[in-house]
Amino acid sequence: KRQPIVAIDGPAGAGKSTVARAVAQSLGLLYLDTGAMYRALTWLVLKLGISVNDEPGVTEIASTCKIELRMSDDPQTGVRVWIDGEECTQEIRSLEVTSHVSAIAAQKAVRSELIKQQRLWGEKGGLVAEGRDIGTHVFPNAELKIFLTASVEERARRRRADLQNQGGLELSLEKMQQDLLERDWKDSNRDIAPLRKAPDAIEIYTDGLTIAQVTELITNLYWEKT
Ligand code: C5P
Repeated sequence: KRQPIVAIDGPAGAGKSTVARAVAQSLGLLYLDTGAMYRALTWLVLKLGISVNDEPGVTEIASTCKIELRMSDDPQTGVRVWIDGEECTQEIRSLEVTSHVSAIAAQKAVRSELIKQQRLWGEKGGLVAEGRDIGTHVFPNAELKIFLTASVEERARRRRADLQNQGGLELSLEKMQQDLLERDWKDSNRDIAPLRKAPDAIEIYTDGLTIAQVTELITNLYWEKT
């Protein structure tokens, strides 16, 4: 019998990565950051000078590239990412990649290719997977589904704090909010596997909650369900 799967979905900047990593660590499960896969592909496409809207060009790369994810020993870094043998851990978090990733993630061939790889990870279970369509499409039979949200103001504040910690550039909160809402709109309004709460997902609104509190809520739900 396969081990349990925890699916965590939600809009951009809701704290999914931090929480998913903490939950995986606390439960002794693997952590799968699916957004990192879409980001790595976007980075490679941009690097090769291919337009993100060139579907045949992007499809060709999606079906031949090799994406590797490995947990970093440094909790700040999270997951380390390689594509075709080249590390792109830092680069995939750039504004350039972030502003183009939704156009890549909307493409049918891209999604079917990356979902195939994500399901391979999930074959044996024992996984906390995080993204936009995990509970609805990638692992519809996940034992526990969480939909993580927060107000756009709170999400922008967290994003800015992250960027500042990484020594990144200063953006106004208004600009960050605009970018988050624009990305959410694109991710929610695409034809294939749009961002949605699965009917059987439990929604957690995280304004005013600490990472430790959200992590505990989810691990408690996990023990109730499994
Ligand atoms: O979670 P993260 O912000 O890294 O995701 C980057 C982008 O990748 C999202 O805005 C979305 O366009 C895409 N994505 C997706 N499906 C997933 C995970 C991410 O379409 N399961």
